[in-house]
Amino acid sequence: MKRLFWQILFALLPLCAAAQTIQSPSGQLTLTFSLDGTRPQYALTYKGRDVILPSHLGLELARDKHASRGMEETDLIDGFAIEKTETSTFDETWQPVWGETRDIRNHYNELAVTLRQAGAGERILVLRFRLYDDGLGFRYEFPSQPDLNYFLIQDERTEFRMTGDHTAWWLPGDYDTQEQQTQESRLSEIRARFHDAVNWGNSSVAVFSPTGVQTALQMRTADGLYINLHEAACVDYATMHLELVDPQTTALTTRLQGASNAYTPPPAPARAPLPPPFTFVSHLTPDATGLKGAMQTPCRSPWRTVIVSDDARDMLSSNLILNLNEPCALDDVSWIHPTKYCGVWWEMIVGKSAWNYTDELPSVQLGLDTPPDFRLAAFDFRRTTPNGRHAANNEKVRRYIDFAARNGLQQVLVEGWNVGWEDWANRWKRDVFDFQTPYPDFDLQGLNDYAHSKGVRLMMHHETSSSTQNYERYLEDAYALMNRYGYDAVKSGYVGDIIPRGDHHYSQSMNNHYLHCVQQAARHHIMVNAHEATRPTGLCRTYPNLVGNESARGTEYEAFGGNRPDHTCILPFTRLQGGPMDYTPGILETQLSTWSDNTSWVRTTVCGQLALYLTMYSPLQMAADLPEHYERPDLAPAFQFIRDVPCDWDDSRYLEAEPADYITVARRQKGSDNWFVGSKCDENGHQTTLKLDFLQPGRTYDATIYTDAPDAHYQHNPKAYNVTRKTVRCGQTLKLTSAPGGGFAVSIIAR
Ligand code: NOJ
Ligand code: CA
Repeated sequence: MKRLFWQILFALLPLCAAAQTIQSPSGQLTLTFSLDGTRPQYALTYKGRDVILPSHLGLELARDKHASRGMEETDLIDGFAIEKTETSTFDETWQPVWGETRDIRNHYNELAVTLRQAGAGERILVLRFRLYDDGLGFRYEFPSQPDLNYFLIQDERTEFRMTGDHTAWWLPGDYDTQEQQTQESRLSEIRARFHDAVNWGNSSVAVFSPTGVQTALQMRTADGLYINLHEAACVDYATMHLELVDPQTTALTTRLQGASNAYTPPPAPARAPLPPPFTFVSHLTPDATGLKGAMQTPCRSPWRTVIVSDDARDMLSSNLILNLNEPCALDDVSWIHPTKYCGVWWEMIVGKSAWNYTDELPSVQLGLDTPPDFRLAAFDFRRTTPNGRHAANNEKVRRYIDFAARNGLQQVLVEGWNVGWEDWANRWKRDVFDFQTPYPDFDLQGLNDYAHSKGVRLMMHHETSSSTQNYERYLEDAYALMNRYGYDAVKSGYVGDIIPRGDHHYSQSMNNHYLHCVQQAARHHIMVNAHEATRPTGLCRTYPNLVGNESARGTEYEAFGGNRPDHTCILPFTRLQGGPMDYTPGILETQLSTWSDNTSWVRTTVCGQLALYLTMYSPLQMAADLPEHYERPDLAPAFQFIRDVPCDWDDSRYLEAEPADYITVARRQKGSDNWFVGSKCDENGHQTTLKLDFLQPGRTYDATIYTDAPDAHYQHNPKAYNVTRKTVRCGQTLKLTSAPGGGFAVSIIAR
């Protein structure tokens, strides 16, 4: 008996003390898990170099106010012993419904560590690590158990301890928006740069700390390692930010001066001593109560992700985030299709025309709860004087439909078709839109019939103005209306602060709202493209009808003062890690003052705009400029590329990449041997030696090459470009020059 006791003790001892290690399939990454006393920690190396130094894992829990007095909640931070560890291997290849490549390999080694926390009760926490050749994913799992049933999260305390003062491409951490320009700085410079990095003018801003940043966060180490921190499969959980712990950090929730509506957090709880410099700690988005999560076991956190390579191109071709998401949840996906579209949109963004029908009404009251004598009916709009600037009118929409039909664009987005825009941007107004009642000059039936007769569909627009309760109440009717008239895609929007008040765009409850809409849309065979919604975490794998999001600073900002020329050389490293962006490229008339009172101008050349159809991968691509610009003799040759470029691919090869400098990618059209190449660069210009070794040997191709003219420049000569044609074969090389703020685009059609 005594012998058996010692045998068991010795068998268990390594579990208590020794580190657990797994390697990625090729062996180039190593993940180590251990206990620091009783605190769980992990570390990551790549080709023998440190990526994440030993970093703690854990969560602070909040006391439920309904719990009996004096019952303090025990955090899931320390007091742990290892109960068991399990390792496994997984290797499968799957086919996305749409994507950059036809096949995606999901190959990882896994370590699952079951921890037991002794205390007032016994709690079980599982840490699951998946190690790929391109990075790491790990998450917290909370199995069903008597002593951990319902719980509230005060905050997650996942650390990412960096090895030094890396260069980072970062956005200020914000609970509501990421419509900002990315900053490039050392980690140590974030605090000093923070205030000026915030887009204080956005319709909803809630920054929380002068060292808080958003994910996906892209970094580069002094010795050339690229590291990207983000998350995957954020479901029923708040969006994660990262807070850099620097010597000046006194409390992790420092209120910033000047935030328009920043949430005032409760006093920070007493904290463990600060970790060493250059450590990021997770910071979740609170809900209206200030708490970060309301959980019920069994449940789990999203995956925390670390993508790593010594080659920047690998950051862009990584499928780690998609792989960490669950497989497709929809049985029938036949109705989901990549789509190129144009829309009645840019002219409103630029300020030339309007979403609203009349300027006569100081406000309108719609809505289910509005007393009938206050409620405005559709016919009331007929009694008002139209402002003459309402763009979503029958005549104009017909023209857009004709244009789409002539140019192979499948859909026409129409914004401002439904009543309520007269005072839509009011911060606290709940009953803004009903998503069903058209303005008097928009013939819902007639325009849809006309579109369908031309082989085109209209694309629905639901601006919710962040009144989510209102939207959810109308959702079923709104989607049913879409089915009735033949719409199969909706662009939704969440401008302004969340209503009901106090909640944030990236909270657990809001993340649940967005997913609810996507799931309900799937029941109606509707594809969703949500603007201002939470930043994506790869959920489009599970719900491929989530064909796009904005969730970053899009082309619209070219009309609000401009995006820096390097902006689109950063987004694929950051925002696009979680899923495609509806960036809305294709503005060929870059000088807005030539046709409007808007003095802003687009910070790229014409060829830079063409390149975005390749470098900003999305199954949804807009030709965002006005039809009359595309038809102009000086711009029509460039528009030909937008007509030709597909948005569904079998293969993609990232040929060159450096964050904020340049990206060159070649993609093979779905089901064909046609290739399209795009290259976008920053304000410095770029030289590319394009080796056509991806073409099929022995085959002849007709290449059309769209390049910036030698004297082109995004500032003073953006519209100078050349189109040349060439016969090309595998193995040939093209030398191509991109102007400052420019790029190139090539279509290579197989004979
Ligand atoms: C902001 C969106 O990003 C933009 O595309 C849309 O036109 C406006 N909201 C109005 O919904
Ligand atoms: Ca927006």
